[in-house]
Amino acid sequence: MAKLWGGRFSKNTNELVDAFNASIDFDQRLYHEDIRGSIAHATMLADCGIIPAEDGTKIVAGLQEILQEIEAGAFHFDTALEDIHMNIEARLTEKIGAAGARLHTARSRNDQVALDMHMYVKKEVAEIAHLLWNFEEALLKVAKQHNKTLMPGYTHLQRAQPITFAHHLLAYFNMLQRDFRRLQGVWEGADMMPLGAGAIAGTTFPIDRFAVAEQLHFGKVYANSMDAVSDRDYVIEFLSFASILMLHLSRLSEEVCLWSSTEFGFIELDDGFATGSSMMPQKKNPDIAELVRGKTGRVYGHLQALLVTVKGLPLTYNKDLQEDKEGLFDAIDTIKFSLTVYRDMLLTMIVNVDRMQEAVSKDFSNATDLADYLVRKGVPFRKAHEVVGKCVAHAILQGKFLPEISLTEYQQFSPLFEADLLEVLKPENCVAARQSYGGPAFGENAKQFTMGEKILQQQRTVLQDFHDNL
Ligand code: ARG
Repeated sequence: MAKLWGGRFSKNTNELVDAFNASIDFDQRLYHEDIRGSIAHATMLADCGIIPAEDGTKIVAGLQEILQEIEAGAFHFDTALEDIHMNIEARLTEKIGAAGARLHTARSRNDQVALDMHMYVKKEVAEIAHLLWNFEEALLKVAKQHNKTLMPGYTHLQRAQPITFAHHLLAYFNMLQRDFRRLQGVWEGADMMPLGAGAIAGTTFPIDRFAVAEQLHFGKVYANSMDAVSDRDYVIEFLSFASILMLHLSRLSEEVCLWSSTEFGFIELDDGFATGSSMMPQKKNPDIAELVRGKTGRVYGHLQALLVTVKGLPLTYNKDLQEDKEGLFDAIDTIKFSLTVYRDMLLTMIVNVDRMQEAVSKDFSNATDLADYLVRKGVPFRKAHEVVGKCVAHAILQGKFLPEISLTEYQQFSPLFEADLLEVLKPENCVAARQSYGGPAFGENAKQFTMGEKILQQQRTVLQDFHDNL
């Protein structure tokens, strides 16, 4: 197939160059955006009197047919035509002749690919926002079921203080809210219309960029043609969002792996969401969590790759920018799959409430509460800390936990200890007493549930807003 830019060349491109240069294998994913963008462009050209109205009509009809051909799997993608833009344009001209050859008036592939990518990112942001919302909702649902499920909280992976499983899950719920907010930021960057920037310096034709923006539901139009064709911030912002989201899922994955081990035994994954070993018959492995943790690295890689690709580029378009796509596409596929499968895994896992309760009853995670007990009797905290430290050391020597030490023993460390200390040591009381704002106390978590519901409700309007502006 002859090159659409072949005029000044006297030789065919080397075959290796065709293969190396082409992006059609991966950018065919943009066919829908490319066609929609071209329809908007052609309509605007006709409305502004830049091309004859009949040509505008023919172009739109031809593009709609091509859309059907692609969706029916009947379109032949040609590597020699490099990319999705030229594949579609060449087919259009093949179908409708001279009118098709008018489509590219006042346009370059530089602003065309930027337009496609903006539209594509917006579409994916809208879909991912839905999946993220579903995930948040699932977390809140499981958390609500476990407001009374006591477990040890950890720092340094050492037992620290009693908490509830609900409180632990709500921490992730809060992290995901920030992801949702970041996703709204990605939308802001993507919702800017670049078409009309031409190759670099706009066009000599009296185009109407705002009409195109309106037709394609863009909120803003790039104010500088050079920025419009060289900006990839919105892709970098997407990959940053994706990296931080994966970071959160990866931390949760690490906990799921720990919790499902025999050593912890806090949860058991549903048989449908775990895998076995080809050699060891007893094994039940948390592969989903491990894979999500593993895939986090590759999403970081895509962010890093694009940051490095763009950092040394002079304005404006350089072919290096074609490298923005595969990483973005892979990151999108990875987070969508991860969010979907992970949500179902969480909803089906069995939480071993008794095992968690047992764990928190047989440890020293109530020691801070004993120090606080002395503080309430007037002992300075530093001093109380030291006294209770000695009680702990004493208990360890005896092979006991704090509730098993007798009052007379306690009183050797401080005369202020009285029989009521036993109440203070109960893990459910440790949790109930932590009523500070944001703390794990049952009532506090109940407030967080209500707030969470409200946030989910607010996010619904954002989802609708995204949907309405695609
Ligand atoms: N396939 C190219 C890309 O993805 C399209 C833009 C090409 N522009 C150019 N001047 N060669 O970046």
